[in-house]
Amino acid sequence: MPSYAFFKKKFIPTSEAKLGILTHALHYGTACFEGIRVNWNSDDKQLYIFRCPEHYERLLNNCKMLKINIPYTVDKLCSLTVNLIQKSGYKEDVYIRPLAYKSSEALGVRLHGLEDDIFIVVTPFGPYLDADNGIKCCVSSWIRPDDNMIPARGKITGIYVNNALAKTEAIENGFQEAIMLTSDGYVSEGSGENIFLVTDGKLVTPGCYDRILMGITRDTVIQLAKKELGIETIERHIDRSELYLANEVFLTGTAAHITPVVEIDHRKVGDGKIGKLTKKLQKLYFDVESGRNKKYLHWCTPVYSKQAKGRKTRAEIG
Ligand SMILES: Cc1ncc(COP(=O)(O)O)c(C=O)c1O
Repeated sequence: MPSYAFFKKKFIPTSEAKLGILTHALHYGTACFEGIRVNWNSDDKQLYIFRCPEHYERLLNNCKMLKINIPYTVDKLCSLTVNLIQKSGYKEDVYIRPLAYKSSEALGVRLHGLEDDIFIVVTPFGPYLDADNGIKCCVSSWIRPDDNMIPARGKITGIYVNNALAKTEAIENGFQEAIMLTSDGYVSEGSGENIFLVTDGKLVTPGCYDRILMGITRDTVIQLAKKELGIETIERHIDRSELYLANEVFLTGTAAHITPVVEIDHRKVGDGKIGKLTKKLQKLYFDVESGRNKKYLHWCTPVYSKQAKGRKTRAEIG
């Protein structure tokens, strides 16, 4: 069965979805995108899309920043996504990549006077980082752009050159992920993840002022820590040296789930093993995102049931 893409307002086999070489977004990075995980639950024989409306809410906000007009509501984008996965017939973990872009085949740096479009593709997707054993990170020599350079909260394709430079530098130097700082020297985020520290039993994470993407996994962790473990998260600036002194450090992201960091800049984090709180949060998060924790089923959109079509948005659930 071929994998399908939603492309130019139609579902077509992914292999047939092609863009012209003059497409504006390809030249100038004038696009924004999302990454959404869809998790196979073998007990329920069901695929669950995790926090689908929240991803599309973020995408539409980012479209506003880039002056991209998409003729779809959050609900419509969610139902297109459900239809796309059904059509492709997956029964394994997959990843959804919606990308809204300046689609005119025209040269010239600008945002105005151009056509817009969106495509959505689906692809099988396994682990991104080694969440089971933990990873080694370095502090990157590349810094996060300030908000008045390219807004980091935007998930804008063009800004990802910054992330790619940091990631490749980290890999080539023998680490698995980069941790970037802001121009003020505060801890910002990984190349595709937010960061949390556990210090004296408290969770600490940088706020939006530290040039981060406001992650949906980050929000999930903050909510689960509070509601399930009674632990508040403190949002504040974090100094680089705090990374070396934290008891536990972990990264969060749709692709990365919750990935423990066991070493930073050749210094062990805590005792160099995966921390207790990190482990607890990993287990909680796994159960929630795969639809095994029924208390949080409102965050999971089922793909293969009638419910999927009439799913309520977050606003309707309240
Ligand atoms: C730069 C960056 N930060 C953080 C995240 C985590 O965001 P989310 O949890 O919404 O996937 C991502 C991944 O999308 C990212 O690319």
